[in-house]
Amino acid sequence: MITLDVNAIENRQLYSFLTSAIIPRPIALVSTIDKNGNVNLSPFSYFNCVSTRPPILMIAPVKKARDGEEKDTFLNLQETAECVINLTNYSMVEQMSLTSAPFDRGINEFKKAGFTEEKSLLVKPPRVKESPVAFECKVTQIIELAKNGGAGNVIFCEILSIHVAEDVMDKNGNIDPYKLDTVARLGGNLYSRVNPASIFELQKPISAIGVGVDNIPDRLLKFGYFSGNELARLASIEAVPSKTEISKFPALLDGMKVKNEKELLLYMSELLSFNQVKEAWLVGLNL
Ligand SMILES: Cc1cc2nc3c(=O)[nH]c(=O)nc-3n(C[C@H](O)[C@H](O)[C@H](O)COP(=O)(O)O)c2cc1C
Repeated sequence: MITLDVNAIENRQLYSFLTSAIIPRPIALVSTIDKNGNVNLSPFSYFNCVSTRPPILMIAPVKKARDGEEKDTFLNLQETAECVINLTNYSMVEQMSLTSAPFDRGINEFKKAGFTEEKSLLVKPPRVKESPVAFECKVTQIIELAKNGGAGNVIFCEILSIHVAEDVMDKNGNIDPYKLDTVARLGGNLYSRVNPASIFELQKPISAIGVGVDNIPDRLLKFGYFSGNELARLASIEAVPSKTEISKFPALLDGMKVKNEKELLLYMSELLSFNQVKEAWLVGLNL
């Protein structure tokens, strides 16, 4: 493990480390207008949802590294305080990328990238018709973090209305991530795609509070056999099985023809992989 002193590395390397480490980052394709009504469209991956009620999104246009100049999106938001934050799916990713070219202020990137302007309901900037989800927003707060090139301007945008394409919704009216086919930014020129191969499910430890790794007996931990994920799965059980439950178990083990310690540990791993957490404990407590 190496340790970096952020003050000892140059800006480009710092940018590279940060944007390769904080991944995947969602992408906001932001449409704005200046005070004369000129439309602008640009992507920002310093972006997230930071509050539910009030519903607030955050984007951070960074001052240009070269000369500290502000980006058009930032200037427009200072002037008119309204935007539409459009999400990007895989089918529009190259058009989204095209909008990030440093076009002069006043140039409409909808036209450059071949996107269609759709009139918004509550704000002046148009939304991207091709986008599966679009948030009409008003700016509530701008925080300039520093004056130098590379410094972020954090912009909080309150959502006024949300547009969602029916074909990305499930039957309960929620957004279906399998249908959204969204993309996210990694470091450099890399992106990731959220599709069935990259989606998995993990239960929240809210309704059931687990016993914790600190309640797994040392005689099981001492083998150093289990991965962190396996330990967490074991630790998620609400109560360590009782003596009565354990005492009934050797008969079951006999039937399974498990011979030695290593086989028992392997068997526990297998049970955990099928989410049979209690059974894994019963095997383990017989060790
Ligand atoms: C996927 C993607 C994400 C980006 N994220 C950011 C970001 O979070 N902050 C930023 O300042 N620039 C970001 N950029 C670069 C801007 O999009 C680029 O500087 C653009 O020209 C700004 O346009 P504007 O001057 O019209 O606002 C990103 C570019 C891409 C392709």
